[in-house]
Amino acid sequence: MTAKQTLLRGRVLTFTAEPQGAEDTSAYEFIEDGALLVADGTILAKGNYGDLAVQAAQAEVIDHRPNILMAGFIDTHLHFPQVQVVASWGSQLLEWLNNYTFPEETRFADASHSAKMAGHFLDLLTSHGTTTAVAYCSVHKASAEAYFNEAAQRNMRMIGGKVLMDRNAPEGLLDTPVSGYDDTKALIAKYHGKGRGLYAVTPRFAITSTPDQMEMAGALVKEHPDCYVQTHLSENHDEIAFTAELYPQARDYLDVYQSYGLLTEKMLLGHSIHLQPREIDALAETKAKPVFCPTSNLFLGSGLFDDAGLRARGITNAIATDIGAGTSYSMLQTLNEGYKVLQLQNQKLHPLRAFHWITRGNAAALGLDDKIGTLEAGTEADIVVLDSRATPAMELRMQRAETLSEELFILQTLGDDRSIAQTYVAGKPMKV
Ligand code: GUN
Ligand code: ZN
Repeated sequence: MTAKQTLLRGRVLTFTAEPQGAEDTSAYEFIEDGALLVADGTILAKGNYGDLAVQAAQAEVIDHRPNILMAGFIDTHLHFPQVQVVASWGSQLLEWLNNYTFPEETRFADASHSAKMAGHFLDLLTSHGTTTAVAYCSVHKASAEAYFNEAAQRNMRMIGGKVLMDRNAPEGLLDTPVSGYDDTKALIAKYHGKGRGLYAVTPRFAITSTPDQMEMAGALVKEHPDCYVQTHLSENHDEIAFTAELYPQARDYLDVYQSYGLLTEKMLLGHSIHLQPREIDALAETKAKPVFCPTSNLFLGSGLFDDAGLRARGITNAIATDIGAGTSYSMLQTLNEGYKVLQLQNQKLHPLRAFHWITRGNAAALGLDDKIGTLEAGTEADIVVLDSRATPAMELRMQRAETLSEELFILQTLGDDRSIAQTYVAGKPMKV
């Protein structure tokens, strides 16, 4: 028996490369009356509706016109145990961690709390159009199990890892170099490459790991070169100063990770704001990926990410929400704030590049653009349906929009979860 086929009809937009400017039509494909033929979690074909309707006469047609069909959004840095931390008032990074975040994360020792929050977390992601995310779990193995189990139940391509942290945090949030290593090994064996799950070795940041733990993290990276590595880098001046005290022999902050063998092209470095020239050289050489987290950087007053400066060095920047220091689950709102962060530095974020960034761009940063981030035939059917007229303000503004770029800019500036008409995960609609 052949699998049930679905034909999604709408205005299809997908990227084949990063748009180099407003007129770069070679970087994307836009089909006004387009369709995607989906079966068994995969995109079988992309094309004109008329052609595909003939080709797949038995397929069930779901008409999403005039909405846009785009690849599901990808969020490359956020914290699953911070769903009840987001919107906590009044402090910068280190006080925010100590006052709000660490106490909250201790609750994830409880497997049932972790399972409940993982369900809420994934519901929030898909309701905001995000189909893949790279998340930090808490230090507790149970939190990572809950995260991967919930993701597997929804058949989502999710990346994550239990954080490694063995100092400078409350007792209930500490592992040891050996327990962190053993738990990570067990989680990799259970979840990495199983279904759609992928593992990220996750030393939280230099401040919360002893040199012994960094060494163990280095061993994990060496033993599992196909896993990701994620951490934080140079987010805040007090953090950088404390790191220098804790690792006096390091040439700079990035050298802490580099000297333990963590710095590879599979590494995602959240924030990467206040960088030294040597650190930028090392990022360029190793092809590691800085992650821009605009809503978080503004919320914690951390600083302005130098997107153009890093790009000029050939570095691939990813972009992310950083929930719970970030203030929105929406990658649209992340672009909105990202645009403003760049404006403050006289840098530009064109809407075509913006939508490429949260789809194919982030997929390429993860080395997954053959699987997710586009609508090419043969890729996984993670698809978002975007309504550019979702609110009265958007509807009014759309009356003056004449081009695709204008429409996209309205979506990224005024849009949020209300603009997500539907999210398909491996071909299955998540909104019922
Ligand atoms: N640095 C170390 N841990 C965290 C975290 O949870 N959030 C942010 N924004 N920065 C961090
Ligand atoms: Zn973070």
